[in-house]
Amino acid sequence: MIDINIVLIGFMGSGKTTVGKALSNKNNFSFIDTDDLITKEEKKQIPEIFNEYGEEYFRELETNVLKELSSNASNNIILSTGGGMVMREKNVKLMNKIGVIIYLKTTPEVILKRLQNDNSRPLLKDKSKENIIKLFNKREKYYQASGDIIINTNNKSIDKIVKEIEGCI
Ligand code: S3P
Repeated sequence: MIDINIVLIGFMGSGKTTVGKALSNKNNFSFIDTDDLITKEEKKQIPEIFNEYGEEYFRELETNVLKELSSNASNNIILSTGGGMVMREKNVKLMNKIGVIIYLKTTPEVILKRLQNDNSRPLLKDKSKENIIKLFNKREKYYQASGDIIINTNNKSIDKIVKEIEGCI
């Protein structure tokens, strides 16, 4: 791979963190996760931030993280982003400034299975199929439009997804 930054986008549970870590280990890239940066900076977990300050506050923190990263000229970074990042146009501009945007595309059915026992995501307190599909449908067009590269992840191993990404870069 050449000198580049990769920005991973996709719905909650699409594998951004797992794939990002595997890709960075294999290629000696630094792995950065926007949720991690936010929780470190705020010294609070994401559900606490949502509970105490609300979603809009969290969205501002996300934009601030992207602003900071985009003004910093580092290379060879894999950036895993929160699933709601694409919903602000300015975030998409900032992500484009940071690097190549890769959409990890996963169907709501697979997401539903993966997140069944997860309690860390405030927007998925209601884990009914209807809720996940509703949120997914609202966001899907933004993921599609923002991704420079789209990788289907359904029924693929992490290794296979990593190799596909490597083949595109
Ligand atoms: C969110 C996704 C989460 C986290 C927060 C909000 C969203 O990140 O940023 O709970 O709006 O989709 P992951 O996509 O890493 O789960």
